[in-house]
Amino acid sequence: MAVLPIITAPDKRLKVRSEPVTAVDAELATLMDDMLETMYLAPGVGLAAPQIGVTKRVIVVDVGKTEEDRDPYRMANPELVWTSDERSVYEEGCLSLPEHYADVERPERIRVKYIDENNTEQELEADGLLATCIQHEMDHLEGVLFVDHLTSLKRNMIIRKLQKTKKMKAAAE
Ligand code: NI
Repeated sequence: MAVLPIITAPDKRLKVRSEPVTAVDAELATLMDDMLETMYLAPGVGLAAPQIGVTKRVIVVDVGKTEEDRDPYRMANPELVWTSDERSVYEEGCLSLPEHYADVERPERIRVKYIDENNTEQELEADGLLATCIQHEMDHLEGVLFVDHLTSLKRNMIIRKLQKTKKMKAAAE
């Protein structure tokens, strides 16, 4: 497995719509493992392929709190087949927007269809943090970041700070 560099905002590669995969082959299964390893190290609870510069509809998610209760999901072509009318609010963060957090409202429960690491179609019903996390990662496949759910005032404030951090980092290199 390999740890991959994560792209941080603002970056136009994070605004692209990712392409569906035709099948999960050995190469894609390895990519999923690499994404998980990258996510665990960061550490984070989800990662989408465009965050590592791969514009494919692939996400990984694991909301387990400790190494012992790891419960990773590897999903290709995830698609919401149902969402609850009931909504919930979570404070979200993103490995591509380090150190920024904000409340985002989304459907509380979802049913998601996807292709797993064995190229088998699966359906999962999720709620709570897992449901939020899957929806957050699926947004990345549309080029949507969690700040895009905020008011433009809040969004611009965060993006400006990220831009500043980037400039400072570039100047230090
Ligand atoms: Ni994210």
